[in-house]
Amino acid sequence: MSAFTDHIAELRRRWSGALASAGLDVAVVAAGTSRPYFLDDQSPPYRPNPHFAQWLAGAECPNSLLLVRRNGPVTLYFHQVEDYWHLPPATPDLDDAVAVETFDSIDAMTTAVAREVERFNRTAFVGEVETPGSNLPFGEVNPPLLLNALHYGRARKTPFEIACMRRATEIAVAGHVAAVAAFRAGASEFEIHQAYLSASQQTESSLPYSSIVALNEHAGVLHYQHYDRNSPAVRKSFLIDAGGRYRGYAADVTRTYAAQSDAFAALIDALDAEQLAIIDTIRAGMSYVDLHDAMHRSIAGILSNLGLVTCSAEAAYQQRITDAFFPHGIGHLIGLQTHDVGGHLASPEGGTRAPPERYPALRLTRAIETGQVFTVEPGIYFIPMLLRQLRPSAAGNDVAWSEVDALMGHGGIRIEDNVLITEDGVENLTREAFAGASSAT
Ligand code: GLY
Ligand code: MN
Ligand code: MN
Repeated sequence: MSAFTDHIAELRRRWSGALASAGLDVAVVAAGTSRPYFLDDQSPPYRPNPHFAQWLAGAECPNSLLLVRRNGPVTLYFHQVEDYWHLPPATPDLDDAVAVETFDSIDAMTTAVAREVERFNRTAFVGEVETPGSNLPFGEVNPPLLLNALHYGRARKTPFEIACMRRATEIAVAGHVAAVAAFRAGASEFEIHQAYLSASQQTESSLPYSSIVALNEHAGVLHYQHYDRNSPAVRKSFLIDAGGRYRGYAADVTRTYAAQSDAFAALIDALDAEQLAIIDTIRAGMSYVDLHDAMHRSIAGILSNLGLVTCSAEAAYQQRITDAFFPHGIGHLIGLQTHDVGGHLASPEGGTRAPPERYPALRLTRAIETGQVFTVEPGIYFIPMLLRQLRPSAAGNDVAWSEVDALMGHGGIRIEDNVLITEDGVENLTREAFAGASSAT
């Protein structure tokens, strides 16, 4: 059997269990469609419903419907209309693991689905309402019991998904290698962005998320969203958070570089070492919240060792000085979505495991388990808004402000890898891809 056939077999097991626990016999999963902007005939790029995409291995089938029976085969009702304005979608190659019925009109497709759904008592629709199929008489629409079970399970990747994520990472890394070369050659943010797209063979709309390409103080804006056409006169730093996508699966990668060998470069090296050290500690069974907390202690150590605070690492941690320098979570689940769902779920049945009061931005609060893929992305930033609040506080007395002020124009550092949890530790998909890229040159 191919990895894809195994993947479909695993999805069938998961959906059978999830449908049973939600008291359902069948679900219709809508691919979705791209709606035009308000009062416009232009639409944003199409993004499939991830519940649909997981069965389709990246094949784009807007408007199509997937019928998942609790005890029985899975059928794709494939919408393929003849068109000369757009290229119609190709018939997906699903290794015969999913039956495909093709329709050239939405009406004919929904009529066929309705006829099949009528045979079952307990039915649900999974998808955006007001897309083809959502008007059929389903018992439930997006039932939380079904979605929670699926979202919880999605954290554990199948071997097919892991292979896709490995490839997505290689795509991203090809872009990163070109981007840093462009930075070293003096390129603007805009030019670096173009170099990234070109080397990774991606278009803006095929990226898993909008690339963050930040020179100097822009690196301190966590989700900086512009591409400055001008190259700054003085180049201090470069942060790039840019991903790759392969068959629907995302890679989410950040690197930071210093323009010269200075205090900022030393800070990057220190954070890089601590990021690798914390990844080394990861084992199935650990709490991701504890991992995040341990990273705050590591960052407190860096601030103390490099003289950015005048107090001990312990005091910097206890006084929450690190919160101003590292204001986001250490990472998140990743897969079909860059920020994959289910990070706060308490169990497959539902319930929320909220982040602790100190770390409200933490997107993942679950125990670490084999088969999960998540990011590990610590940062140290010089964010004027947060440092303005810290400066007059009691803890502010323990900050070495002249050293911190000297780094303000560098913006900040983030180093982001995607790791797979294995039986005996961690596989760092990102570092492997960078090693592969450098051995190939
Ligand atoms: N690229 C967004 C993030 O790192 O979460
Ligand atoms: Mn991330
Ligand atoms: Mn990122």
